[in-house]
Amino acid sequence: MPEQHIVLRHRAIPHLDRLDVYVANGGYVQLKRAVTSMTPAEVIDLVKQSGLRGRGGAGFPTGLKWSFVPAGIDKPRYVVVNNDESEPGTFKDHEITLSNPHQFIEGAAIAAYAIGARDVYIYSRGEFWDEMVHLKACIAEARAAGHLGQNLFGTDYGVEVHVTPGAGAYICGEETALLNSLEGELGQPRLKPPFPAVAGLYACPTVVNNTETLANVPQIMERGPEWYKAIGTEKSPGTKIISVSGHVARPGNYEVPLGTPFAEVLALAGGVWQGRAMKALLPAGASAPVIPAETAMGMNCDWESVAATGSILGSASFIVLDETTDMAWVAYKTVRFFQHESCGKCSPCREGTFWMKKILTRVVHGEATAADIPLLGDVVRQIDSKCFCPLGEFALSAPRSTLAQFEGDYLGHVGAPRP
Ligand SMILES: Cc1cc2nc3c(=O)[nH]c(=O)nc-3n(C[C@H](O)[C@H](O)[C@H](O)COP(=O)(O)O)c2cc1C
Ligand code: SF4
Repeated sequence: MPEQHIVLRHRAIPHLDRLDVYVANGGYVQLKRAVTSMTPAEVIDLVKQSGLRGRGGAGFPTGLKWSFVPAGIDKPRYVVVNNDESEPGTFKDHEITLSNPHQFIEGAAIAAYAIGARDVYIYSRGEFWDEMVHLKACIAEARAAGHLGQNLFGTDYGVEVHVTPGAGAYICGEETALLNSLEGELGQPRLKPPFPAVAGLYACPTVVNNTETLANVPQIMERGPEWYKAIGTEKSPGTKIISVSGHVARPGNYEVPLGTPFAEVLALAGGVWQGRAMKALLPAGASAPVIPAETAMGMNCDWESVAATGSILGSASFIVLDETTDMAWVAYKTVRFFQHESCGKCSPCREGTFWMKKILTRVVHGEATAADIPLLGDVVRQIDSKCFCPLGEFALSAPRSTLAQFEGDYLGHVGAPRP
């Protein structure tokens, strides 16, 4: 199955990041159509009909999320673009931001119209410094040309788009920590409910959507929800950008219909490098349980199929691990990451990631005893389901799944015979 570029259209249209090129290719026509000839409810319905699901990780239906913003509340509403992209192995939003920025800016403005917001905040990963300069220039140009700003297209509707640098923490990608950070507070998650749609930025109704999610919206409006629904699977419509990295010949972003067999995605990335065999796949960066190669090779790439393997699609950052990879080392690397990124708000995650890292450090440095392996399993069980937010649970994915499926790699470190 070939790639299909709905979001990565710049691969076929050079200089799509330039406003004149974007406009020459249908840019901002759908925003104008929405604002001048559709009601907000009609826009939400259209997005609902398309079946678009969020690309930030959870796959939540986008139109439904927009419809949760309560009517009749006399407060400002906001759209926040989650452009924090901090999952290890995810680099799709970076490419969209650099090469097709107007498409997600237009999508965000359409979302704003749909929920009655007049301000969009793009919360951008702090390291995207040059990209933010570029984004601001794009927004200023679009505003000067009358595609953004006040009294849009001769109506009394207006929308302003602002760019804010992220705080340099993985947890600030979690939507409520992001909102705290955007307000200038410590980037720690909030208790839910209330969900952001009801009480988000400054306690006002807020829709938080991922960059890739919003970049789909103008194309869905242009070509129609039926066209979109015909791509992908019934439950996972459309395309998904898969960031492939690790031990492959051609790492990169590949946009494919959801439901594409993993074997085809691996082939697009040139297969496993150096003629080696594959050992396992991390399908959602550091956050996902590892999938052994044999299972991955029979898996399709959509939310349901990946869930059926016991893992998660998440933001689809596929890290391919070849046969030489030590899976205890993989667990060590991911746990080290999560221990560093734990925000410290709750003790199971703050203390638990510390203890897992301590044990795994002993394991990979050849200082562990055989008793450390069940001890690691014990710590995993003690953290399980006790964390305030999903980060703590993500931290368990690699140790738990590698202990279950690759125990031999651990035993090799403690001098015990491999099973
Ligand atoms: C620890 C953690 C990190 C996250 N990081 C990101 C991120 O970098 N980018 C993102 O879009 N969503 C991230 N999410 C998901 C967001 O909380 C939120 O669900 C998403 O932005 C909603 O957008 P969507 O509906 O368009 O997918 C993260 C979630 C968690 C729990
Ligand atoms: S699980 Fe971790 S990241 Fe989430 S609130 Fe608790 S300490 Fe913070």
